[in-house]
Amino acid sequence: MRKPLIAANWKMNKLHRDALVFAEKLLLTFKNQGDCEVLICPPYTSLAALGRAIEGSPILLGAQNVYWEEQGAFTGEISAAMLVDCGCRYVIIGHSERRGQMAESDQEVNRKVKAALAGSLIPIICVGETSEQREAGLTQEVVATQLQAALEGCAVPAGFWPVVAYEPVWAIGSGRSASAEDAEEVAALLRREFEEAAKIPGDTLRVLYGGSVKSTNIADFMQGENVDGALVGGASLEVEEFCRLIEAAQGRKKT
Ligand code: PGA
Repeated sequence: MRKPLIAANWKMNKLHRDALVFAEKLLLTFKNQGDCEVLICPPYTSLAALGRAIEGSPILLGAQNVYWEEQGAFTGEISAAMLVDCGCRYVIIGHSERRGQMAESDQEVNRKVKAALAGSLIPIICVGETSEQREAGLTQEVVATQLQAALEGCAVPAGFWPVVAYEPVWAIGSGRSASAEDAEEVAALLRREFEEAAKIPGDTLRVLYGGSVKSTNIADFMQGENVDGALVGGASLEVEEFCRLIEAAQGRKKT
């Protein structure tokens, strides 16, 4: 049984006080874990405070990035152990904004996935095609290649099975989401690719869709067999909207 996961990717938004106000309101609404895992991935600067605020609650904490080295002279970088120390269980890796704006390569994504797994963090591996790639009919090839590269040589410890987020680059922050049918088709493909690459039964993998997800369209994405939740940017910044989104995702476990 795969439990739905709704993950908030706050990107570079919210000062730590705003993060705490959000958490306080979210905790009031979301007291029991229910049928859906809820994850908040704030900027690094809010991790420690938020980690303390949600400790012992059903809300989980994740980071938006990690560095692959354990420690040392890597100015500005953050290790897996530091994230765990703040209370993180998850880390987003290979988001298209990092691949695009910070020129993060497939090889770097792979090193980060390995570091996350070695450091007891569950990686949320992001894959997705650009609009040019989509128009050229390359979607499946692009996401399969990204996933294979991310998992290359990874030993996946029990209990830390990666989550894969399918996020078409053109759908992120654009208000123009993929169709539920397209998301479902790509999610099914990623499941098969994961099974082959990680040598783990694909039906245990949780696949998220990301890209202009809102409370009004999440149920459509989760209707099919293969989408287990969402990675949510804009719609996760306002607590009322995020609560409505969680509500709409409840009770959609997949076998
Ligand atoms: P969006 O972002 O929901 O604002 O489109 C999603 C993401 O980038 O993870």
